[in-house]
Parts: sequence; structure tokens; C-alpha cells
Amino acid sequence: MSEQLIIALSKGRIFKETLPLLAHAGITPMDDPESSRKLILDTNHDDIKLIIVRASDVPTYVQYGGADLGVTGKDVLMEHGGEGVYEPLDLKIACCKLMVAGPKGQPEPNRRMRIATKFVNSTKRYYAEQGKQVDIIKLYGSMELAPLVGMADRIVDVVDTGNTLRANGLEPLEHMADISSRLIVNKASMKTKNSRIQALIKHFSEAVQRI
Ligand code: ATP
Ligand code: PRP
Repeated sequence: MSEQLIIALSKGRIFKETLPLLAHAGITPMDDPESSRKLILDTNHDDIKLIIVRASDVPTYVQYGGADLGVTGKDVLMEHGGEGVYEPLDLKIACCKLMVAGPKGQPEPNRRMRIATKFVNSTKRYYAEQGKQVDIIKLYGSMELAPLVGMADRIVDVVDTGNTLRANGLEPLEHMADISSRLIVNKASMKTKNSRIQALIKHFSEAVQRI
């Protein structure tokens, strides 16, 4: 039997949108992470396993060799920094934009702006490039709430339809980056399991063009 290939995915959007790509590569999970409590899922191949981790942990698992491959949003990858991983393929799934948003019609304050976000590194980089000094408030989710309760002037978050912003009286203000999910590969695995990983990249890449 050949060596195991481990692919790191997160529940929800990434898992659902990766399923057709896996199918094109002939890989079918034997469990559904939404209903199973298992963290290692078998597939129809004895030597291919899927591990289910938090979306923001996917690059870390791949970097440290806990997984050979992973699927992660570019937002998460930018925040992680991308050390120890290759990013061979844009999967063009889970597409959205990383944006600065704020309360509708509210101008910038005359003091240092407070920005609430879970994307601390990307936000620091973005404002540093503009030479603006800001205070960043780290949150883990529901950033839209922070301006509503007077805790922040702006948020940095991913936006797709804009419905979440609108529902909370916020508006998109600045476009920071276009986001889609990427296939990432552990650098050592790329050498030691090269032919199997290249085959998978080829199948995924064909599927991306078709879907
Ligand atoms: P965590 O569980 O670590 O907090 P998360 O809740 O952001 O992560 P998901 O909501 O599953 O995880 O999002 C996974 C990826 O999908 C994000 O990193 C982003 O690239 C993309 N994404 C997030 N929200 C949307 C959206 N509304 N529409 C399209 N893509 C999105
Ligand atoms: C994401 C993101 C925004 C929302 C944007 O949340 O954090 O809140 O989607 O999408 P929209 O512009 O189409 O409204 P998600 O739905 O993933 O929920 P989460 O807070 O559990 O991550």
C-alpha cells in the first residue's frame, strides 16, 4: 500500500465546495463532518484521509506536516503568512472580498481610528502601507457588531453579497483584496509524495476549469 495522503479541510462552506473537486479526483468521503463527530474521515481510498479542522487552522496543519494538503481561504492564508506551504492552485471557490466597512455615512473620526477584525496582520499591513496609524481590536467573529456598540469605527471582514453589512446598517468602504480558496501543500510532502500530489493538483485544476 502507498503512503497516506492527508488533506485538511474545514466544515461548512470549504467542505461543501471542495466536494465536487474531490469527486473529480475520484475521492469520496465516507462521512459527513456536519453529522459525524469524527475528526479524521475515511475516503473511498484506504490511503487518503480527510482531517476536519477550524478554517483558520488549515495553514498551520499543512505547515507543520499534520496534513500534506489543505484547502483554505486566501484571507486565512494572508493572515497566516504562508510559511512552510506552497500554494499551487486557485480553486475559485468560496469567493468573496476582504473589505473595510463602517456605519453608513459616518466619516473618519479626528482621532486614531479603531478597527475591529479577526484579520489583525492583514489590517496592520494595509494601514501601514497607507502610512495611517490605527488601533486594532482583535475579535474572533461577528465583527459587524463592534461599530454598532461604539467599540470601533471600522471593521475589516470578508464580504460576499453585502447582506450582513446592510442588515447591520454598515456599508463597504474600501476593497482590500479579492478572496478565493487555495490548495496548499506542505513543502516536504511536495518532495516526498510528488507524483501523487501532482496528480491531485492536475485533477483539481481540471475540475476548476470545468465547474
Ligand atoms: P473560523 O471557523 O476559523 O472562524 P470561518 O467561520 O471564517 O472560520 P467559514 O465561514 O467556513 O470559516 O469560511 C471559510 C472561508 O470561506 C473564509 O476563509 C473565506 O475565504 C470564505 N468565506 C467566508 N465568508 C464567505 C461568504 N459569505 N461568501 C463566500 N465566501 C466566504
Ligand atoms: C461571513 C463573514 C460575513 C458574511 C459576509 O460570515 O464573516 O459576516 O459571511 O457575507 P455576505 O456579504 O454575503 O453577508 P459567515 O456566513 O461565514 O458566518 P460566520 O460568522 O459563522 O463565519
